[in-house]
Amino acid sequence: MNNKNTVLATLVATCLGFSTALYAHGDVVPQSVNTGELETIGEEWLDENPYRAPNEQNALAIDIGSSAYNQNCARCHGLEAQSGGIAPDLRLLEPGLDGDDWYKERVINGAVRNGAVYMPRMADYLSQEALWAIRTYIESRPLPE
Ligand code: HEC
Repeated sequence: MNNKNTVLATLVATCLGFSTALYAHGDVVPQSVNTGELETIGEEWLDENPYRAPNEQNALAIDIGSSAYNQNCARCHGLEAQSGGIAPDLRLLEPGLDGDDWYKERVINGAVRNGAVYMPRMADYLSQEALWAIRTYIESRPLPE
């Protein structure tokens, strides 16, 4: 092997190792969420968070979302929605419908680039009710200073 090929082989090996490590990180075991009394939504994804105030289930959704978030999102996005830097701070998503749209896009599709899973498709594991409850919880957290 000439020098150029050796460099190339090393590069390829490094990249492979790197993506495997990322995959291991993304390969999480999501915890099922009991959404209890929350009104069921069905299969079809809504465009807007149904539990946002003044919805009467707002407080309940925050409660359920808090535990669901801390079990399923916190290891990457930070405890109590305060990012430690591994993944974006979700309190910075736009409030209301615009933020809902991007939130929904991400939880359904995850973040996968070149075969590396940066974020799993959380909607494959968690119900729509659980995921909107998490969005409700995140919106209830104070913004970073
Ligand atoms: C294995 C780590 C991991 C887990 C678990 C995870 N995420 Fe993520 N998430 C990421 C990473 C990394 C990004 C940034 C992706 C990128 O760079 O494109 C991200 C991006 C996002 C975004 C887009 C943020 C933005 O500012 O663009 C949303 C919304 C999101 N995640 C929601 C969630 C929710 C809700 C959960 C839990 C149900 C969750 N994530 C679980 C790693 C994770």
